[in-house]
Amino acid sequence: MQERLLIVDDEQGMRNLLSIMLRKQGYLVHLAGSGEEALKKLSNDVYDLIISDISMPGIDGIGVLRRVQELVPEVPTIIITAYASTESAIEALKLGAYDYIVKPFDVEEFKIIISNALERKRLERENQYLRKELHDQYSFEGFVGKSQKMKEIFSLVERVSGTNSTIFVSGESGTGKELIARAIHYNSQRKEKPFVSINCGALPDPLLESELFGHMKGSFTGAVTAKKGLFEVADGGTLFLDEIGETSPAMQIKLLRVLQERKIRRVGGTEEFEIDVRVIVATNQDLEALVEQRKFREDLFYRINVIQIEMPPLRDKTEDIPDLVRHFLDKYNQQVGKKVEGFTQEVVDCLLRYHWPGNVRELENTIERAVALETSSNIQMESISENIRKNGKGKTEFPASLPSSGVNLEVHLEGLRARFMLEALDRVNGVQSRAAELLGMSFRSFRYFAKKYNIFGDPAIRADL
Ligand SMILES: Nc1ncnc2c1ncn2[C@@H]1O[C@H](COP(=O)(O)OP(=O)(O)OP(=O)(O)O)[C@@H](O)[C@H]1O
Ligand SMILES: [Mg+2]
Repeated sequence: MQERLLIVDDEQGMRNLLSIMLRKQGYLVHLAGSGEEALKKLSNDVYDLIISDISMPGIDGIGVLRRVQELVPEVPTIIITAYASTESAIEALKLGAYDYIVKPFDVEEFKIIISNALERKRLERENQYLRKELHDQYSFEGFVGKSQKMKEIFSLVERVSGTNSTIFVSGESGTGKELIARAIHYNSQRKEKPFVSINCGALPDPLLESELFGHMKGSFTGAVTAKKGLFEVADGGTLFLDEIGETSPAMQIKLLRVLQERKIRRVGGTEEFEIDVRVIVATNQDLEALVEQRKFREDLFYRINVIQIEMPPLRDKTEDIPDLVRHFLDKYNQQVGKKVEGFTQEVVDCLLRYHWPGNVRELENTIERAVALETSSNIQMESISENIRKNGKGKTEFPASLPSSGVNLEVHLEGLRARFMLEALDRVNGVQSRAAELLGMSFRSFRYFAKKYNIFGDPAIRADL
């Protein structure tokens, strides 16, 4: 594509000279005889580069430059000065000019300046594009997490978003099952169509049936008009069936039929509608166990379990806690118009140690509450709920025998490993391979856990368990 240049100069001779020289170089050249004309052109057209004389009656080169910086700061501007007036040239550079050239100029030098300016702009644009690509690739709106587990999930989501396969999202309560279902939808070609979500556990059968499939007028008491079901509402888009494990056997048969035939019939209706809906189901129950107990149909289980995404519990990705905490702090600061800056070390340690049975949702609620309660600039222990304070406090000493209240063994084992790793490193003056040897660990797993516990990272967020 030909690059578009705008030349601004009040001297006709100079305009002609530049215009001939640059057209020969293959550029598309536009001319303006005054600053005023240049501003008009700038608001009506798009240029890749501006070349402007500095001294002109009326709006001068600096005026043009200011306007370019306001309107299209990414477009490079080259200023021409009539004499070595370094002062105005430097002012131009300060205002964001790409470069300046002094008249009379060397044509070859001028050409090089121009092509460099355009080249830089092109690179910047490419970088921007690349950044955008990268961003799009990992555009999981509102998703925080750099842990290996989340990376694997993001990459799986990317791979499955383009397909129409049914997806089964499993995971404990509050792990982000609905969030991932949305991410799949918004990363798919269906994103312009609706994402519809329904909690199958919240409604008794007849209501759920009419919600999902719709009903005809008069099909039951209260059905005063015909109503579209959510399968129809979600047409072309995605239907998220949450708490699928809660559905009754009768409902399971109906769901199986839709998933097999991709057709629905409204309650009380005779006509069948073809539907084009991507189905994502979720549950925090162990569906396989329900199948074994014959509480969930095996055929439906196989029908929905085409691609399974298992959301890890928060205690298995503690390295994401600092980022999540920061994310929620920003979110709730904004929501309630506060400026809480951070957390005391004690709070950070506590949040890292606590075992989060309610997962990310519990963490989010904790931060929301803390932000609301906090009166100082950093979140103090007092703003954290008592339960979390108690369970996340102090060094988690490994108990000699099982306490009557039970333990979170996983957390204790992790804590022990982190502590021993730190001690081992101390003893061998930080040589990782020797520390690994001392602990009978492979170098690889030493490195893995060192990263997980942030052993070499910012001590402020280190999982000093
Ligand atoms: N990785 C994450 N980054 C940011 N926010 C998250 C993340 N995971 C979960 N959340 C937030 O945590 C809350 C719970 O997530 P979500 O509702 O998706 O969980 P769920 O698994 O569907 O829970 P439940 O089983 O209780 O319905 C939401 O507010 C969600 O935005
Ligand atoms: Mg949910």
